[in-house]
Amino acid sequence: MHEGSAALGDARPHPARVYDCLLEGKDNYLADQEVAEELAARWPEIQQGVRENRRWMHRAVRYLAREAGIRQFLDIGTGIPTRPNLHEVAQEVEPTARVAYVDNDPLVLNHAEALLTPLTEQGRTIYLQADLRQPGRILASERLNALLDLREPVGLTLVAILHFLEESERPEAILEELVAALPSGSYVALSHACGDAAPASAKDAAAFYREREVSAPVVPRSEARINGFFAGLELLEPGVVPVSQWHPDGPDLPEAVWFYGGVARKP
Ligand SMILES: C[S@@+](CC[C@H](N)C(=O)[O-])C[C@H]1O[C@@H](n2cnc3c(N)ncnc32)[C@H](O)[C@@H]1O
Repeated sequence: MHEGSAALGDARPHPARVYDCLLEGKDNYLADQEVAEELAARWPEIQQGVRENRRWMHRAVRYLAREAGIRQFLDIGTGIPTRPNLHEVAQEVEPTARVAYVDNDPLVLNHAEALLTPLTEQGRTIYLQADLRQPGRILASERLNALLDLREPVGLTLVAILHFLEESERPEAILEELVAALPSGSYVALSHACGDAAPASAKDAAAFYREREVSAPVVPRSEARINGFFAGLELLEPGVVPVSQWHPDGPDLPEAVWFYGGVARKP
């Protein structure tokens, strides 16, 4: 974790920047670094989970581009650019892949250039500053509709974002609205913080997020609840599992039990 911007050192910690610190990125402020350092010291599993979550995103996107033939992606909760970014993974497999990125953190917007530089000549990307809690606005965006053809299958990726929605914000209803706008043959790839393996620690970590007034509280959910997000979809093997166990591509992967992920097809 680096020294950060002193000028913005008293900014309220934000999940995108805390996550960036945990990935050892440099686009974060002092307040974010303090939260990330304490998180990593008290719950080292979180940092490992974050790294594995990122690797899972790479494998899931590669799967969608290569095996499922997905050519366009809607990625909500993109995060601060971290190489390889989602479009780089997709365009490496499919040079024409198009990606619409969405995040609500202005700092992600500041760094959007890295997201807007396609890996290939034919690949295209856009970035929208928007909120997952307003799915109708995302779907109605002219820029989004100029890039993505919502009559063709889309890969909807919600990677480590739904746990920033509280129950009162009705995450299932938001997901339903997004999926309803996509045609049959679309896919949903979703990862989520899960407290099943260490419920007391997960509760403490969530309480710590609240105490430190991170701008969105974290809400770890059970494996059963995360499975519920895929209701009405055809969940691919092996289902909802710790992210490191989803289509692993190397030996000795850690359990990374703090993040669970799954991929499903819209019938
Ligand atoms: C933990 S980061 C995950 C980044 C990336 N998807 C990954 O997994 O590597 C969560 C991201 O979701 C964004 N986010 C949180 N709540 C959001 C909301 N309501 N609308 C849009 N973005 C949100 C944060 O700004 C942050 O960039």
